[in-house]
Amino acid sequence: MKKLEMLYEGKAKKVFKTDNEDIYIVDYKDDATAFNGLKKGTIVGKGVVNNKMTNHIFQILEKEGVPTHFIEELSDRETAVKKVEIVPLEVIVRNVAAGSFSKKLGIEEGTKLLEPTLEFSYKNDDLGDPMINDYYAIAIGAATREEIERITELVFKVNEVLCKYFAECGIELIDFKVEFGRCKGEIILADEISPDTCRLWDIETHDKLDKDRFRRDLGNVEDAYQEVFKRLGIM
Ligand code: C5P
Repeated sequence: MKKLEMLYEGKAKKVFKTDNEDIYIVDYKDDATAFNGLKKGTIVGKGVVNNKMTNHIFQILEKEGVPTHFIEELSDRETAVKKVEIVPLEVIVRNVAAGSFSKKLGIEEGTKLLEPTLEFSYKNDDLGDPMINDYYAIAIGAATREEIERITELVFKVNEVLCKYFAECGIELIDFKVEFGRCKGEIILADEISPDTCRLWDIETHDKLDKDRFRRDLGNVEDAYQEVFKRLGIM
């Protein structure tokens, strides 16, 4: 497979066309941003961790019946993926109160939720990815009712599989964001699952092992990413 011109450069990844029209190559960067791009920095080695961790997790999810865009890891930072049309929604599941949820509702970070919650944000940088509900998503044509139902079913399955898997590695999955794509009439998991897109706490000490270390200037950012990598047994 030949890597052709760059199609898109995002905050953390570049996407390239290939000589196969159904396949793209994702190239993970060390660039880090937070607060809709207002805070910028570099997390050395992040691209490698996020690439390998996403691929590792997507393969586990495939085995559990969750279709994903993963095809093949090509190098430390590059992966071949199925071409998809991204559904313009950030799909967030929360098991424990943290981040914007805690702020919005005045619920202390670390409070276990009575059951997992689901929320959608409309992917639009200019608007700061506003939170919307399923009716908004359907009304603005971001997704159909059937797609929302399938996304809901898949994302709770992802949560169930990952909560169990991370717990076995001594990590509590607090919350995470995923994105889905349309591929040949099917909804499949796309984008990434990494310390950039999940809140991961040490199950005993509740130490943060994710991008909040960068967002909140907590230090040891690189160490946290490497620790997750190590605990998942990827390297
Ligand atoms: O900030 P908030 O509490 O809404 O984030 C919830 C989860 O979604 C966190 O795990 C965060 O890392 C992830 N997220 C993301 N990309 C965004 C917004 C949130 O990966 N643009």
